[in-house]
Amino acid sequence: MERRRLRRLTRPALFTTLAIVATACAAHAPQDYIKNVSGSEAQKADNLFKPVFWIAAFVFFLVEGLVVFAAVKFRDRPGREEPKQIHGNSALELTWTAIPALILAVVAVPTVLAIFSVAAKPAANQVKVHVIAHQWWWEYQYVGMSPPVTTANELVIPVNKPVYFTLDSVDVIHSFWVPKLAGKQDVVPGRTNTLEFTAFKTGEYYGQCTEYCSLSHANMRLRVIVKSETDYETWLKEQQAPPAAPQTTDAQQGQQIFMSNLCIQCHTIAGTEAQGQIGPNLTHFASRGTFAGSMFNNTPDAVDRWIHETSLLKPGVIMPRFGCGQTNEPPYTSMKCISDDQIRLIVAYLETLR
Ligand code: CUA
Repeated sequence: MERRRLRRLTRPALFTTLAIVATACAAHAPQDYIKNVSGSEAQKADNLFKPVFWIAAFVFFLVEGLVVFAAVKFRDRPGREEPKQIHGNSALELTWTAIPALILAVVAVPTVLAIFSVAAKPAANQVKVHVIAHQWWWEYQYVGMSPPVTTANELVIPVNKPVYFTLDSVDVIHSFWVPKLAGKQDVVPGRTNTLEFTAFKTGEYYGQCTEYCSLSHANMRLRVIVKSETDYETWLKEQQAPPAAPQTTDAQQGQQIFMSNLCIQCHTIAGTEAQGQIGPNLTHFASRGTFAGSMFNNTPDAVDRWIHETSLLKPGVIMPRFGCGQTNEPPYTSMKCISDDQIRLIVAYLETLR
């Protein structure tokens, strides 16, 4: 009877365990912080994590091994006497209190050193970026640039140079995390936090807001693009220049439609009358590979769909759905929609903003 009940439980338990283990498997896992660590602060965390993990694994297998061994060896059998009881053995209890205390004391030394090292403010910084978290996207202002450089979601930095970040939030608490480059840093309204790291390898790194910040928290993604020093300088110069005036008729019409609609209340495009401060700065929108909190690849089709049905794609987003036939919630219920053709022209304009 007992055995049958046990067997009935074993299969679901095994299945659940396998399912949980399988969720940890992914061929393409850009936010995996164990493989290919590429930033100074992530390296510090990794240097601490790996030895502590192996110590913990050793302790786990030792203790579990002894428990299983004792459970099997001294299990109850017909006719067997009760094993010798050793409850209250002072020598044994002192030993298994002292050993964990000693292990923790040893682990504490590199841990505390790493905490101080991560929190230290660097002496010299070539690059300073002010990170501003919004529900649900990231704004980056490059400090000390004139003309100013402001981008969104995709952070571009040079390789092998320390970058110093100051982080602020305009609404709720967010957290800035690029697993392969650095540890998490909370972004808190009314308080400026700091973070510093150096990226060791050029490439594209995925990040994510990692503090629950309401509806589209999981849609608050980001990318860090690490460029060679010359590529970074070129990029900075391109960002400082105002975008070229649109050449095609479509793009020119699109610009007019953009400038005569609500778009300019929220977005800035340098050199135009669009000077809104609520949404992402679109000055060099077409130079970014992704948009909307790095949720979508920046393709004309995706941008078109975004303007039509924003909040269907990203729940809670401030930007209303501009597509005709879409239903907006207050305060946008009586907002005038933009026709499909006009949206297509706006997209043609946005895609010229290189
Ligand atoms: Cu921002 Cu979660």
